[in-house]
Parts: sequence; structure tokens; C-alpha cells
Amino acid sequence: MSAQNRIKRIGVPDIRARKGGEPLVCLTAYDFPMARLLDPHCDVLLVGDSLGMVVHGLDTTIGVTLDMMILHGKAVMRASKQALVVIDLPFGTYEASPEQAFASAARVLAETGAQAVKIESGVYAGDTIRFLTERGIPVMGHIGLKPQAALNEGGFKARGRSKTEWDRVIAEAKAADEAGAFAIVIEGVDEELAREITAQVSVPTIGIGASPACDGQILVTQDLLGLFDWAPKFVKRYASLGETVSDAVGRWAADVRSREFPAAEQTYRIKPNDR
Ligand code: KIV
Repeated sequence: MSAQNRIKRIGVPDIRARKGGEPLVCLTAYDFPMARLLDPHCDVLLVGDSLGMVVHGLDTTIGVTLDMMILHGKAVMRASKQALVVIDLPFGTYEASPEQAFASAARVLAETGAQAVKIESGVYAGDTIRFLTERGIPVMGHIGLKPQAALNEGGFKARGRSKTEWDRVIAEAKAADEAGAFAIVIEGVDEELAREITAQVSVPTIGIGASPACDGQILVTQDLLGLFDWAPKFVKRYASLGETVSDAVGRWAADVRSREFPAAEQTYRIKPNDR
């Protein structure tokens, strides 16, 4: 490929510059084939720790490890040419101290080649975000519904319903913004709160179940593609991948059982003198 034809990868400053501009298109990606399909359409590919639930069948994201994130991150990076690739730091790899977060984030970026990390950022995380960004690690914040807090919160619940919660989510947003996050995911809040946060912070907000009032949107790709029977209520399904896969495999299984498929198509043709 000539240097002129090479696609330029979207960088952290490009994302930051989209505040209030054309909405950011972001999706989760966990593996090579899907990342290759998503990459031309997306500004950001997030290797989310939701992979623990979507790919590995865990009940929550708590059991996801740094090694899992790195393995999936490498696969996504091999496929992606243009999107900014962000990798989640999983539970237990960044909360203890800024130093712990730096060691985890540095390992993720060095081993995968991704451009940034995301952390679920309560108000306390401001110090960590500042520590990382001052040392050259771009950080995306994640506020509102924080899936890694599921044990404490009793599941995945929308945030900002009471005055105290509303104030807490605003404080989380400000802490991430002031500490230098380049973008902030807002999960599971209503439109009024998403609009308020988006107006108050200097960087793009990326909503998931948080209304179109954000500077961009992100979804778990398998939810939008309809891979599973269940998806969160706010997700519009654009395909029924689960049914498509099940139907195709069912038809192939029937052909195999009835020996009806054209045998030649399922057989290597080896010429006698090749042996
Ligand atoms: O883990 C994840 O996939 C996420 C997004 C859905 C925002 O954090």
C-alpha cells in the first residue's frame, strides 16, 4: 500500500475536538472478525470488559482479568485500521492506587498497541485519571451506571433518580473532566441529566442508555445485532443475528444428516499424483 492510500487512525485529539460537533459513533469490539467489520464505521472501538458477559458467559464483569483484556485487545488491534481503540481496565486492576492503575494501563497499551484506556470513574478516580494523563496515558471516564459496582449496587440500575444521586453523577463527570479525561461514557441516566452533564463538561460525552443528548453513542455490538434473546430496553436491534446463525446452522446440520449436500463441495480435491 502506498503512503497516500494508508488510512490515518483517529487519535485522542480528534475525539476531543468532536465536542458539540458530529456525533461520535462508538461500538464494543472483542475479536478480529467483528472488529474488521465495525472499524470502517466507527470513531471508537471499545474493548469493553462487557466481554466477560458477552463472550465468556459471566454474570457480571467482576471476573474479567487484565490478561483477558490484553488477549482480546490484541485481536481487535490486528483488525482495526482507523478507529481509536480504547481498552477497559477491569475490576481490581486500577482502584487501589494511581500507581496500580499506571502499571495496568501501561501494560495494556504496550502489549496491545491500543491508544487509550477506560476506567469506571467514581469521584475518587479523579486522582487516578490525573496521574495517568500526566504520564502520557489517555483515559476515557465512565460515570453513572458503573457495571463493576454491580455487587455494591445490587445489579445494573439506572442512576440519578434522587437529588443525591443526580449530584453524585454530576460530581463524577466534573472529576473526570477536571482530571484530564479525553471523553466520558455516561451510562444509564435520563435525558435531562445527560444534557446537563454534556453542557457542564469540556470533553465529549458518549451515552449508553443515556439519550441522544450526549456528544456520541456507544452500544454493546451484539445487542444492536440481536445475537441474544435479551437486550437492554433502550437498544434498537438492527438485525437478528442469533436467528440468522441458528437458522443457517440448523439447515447445514439437516444437510449433513441427510447426506444431501453436494459431496464435492465438502471435499478437498486431491489429484492422485499429488500423493
Ligand atoms: O464494557 C463495556 O462494554 C462498556 C460499554 C458498554 C460502555 O463499558
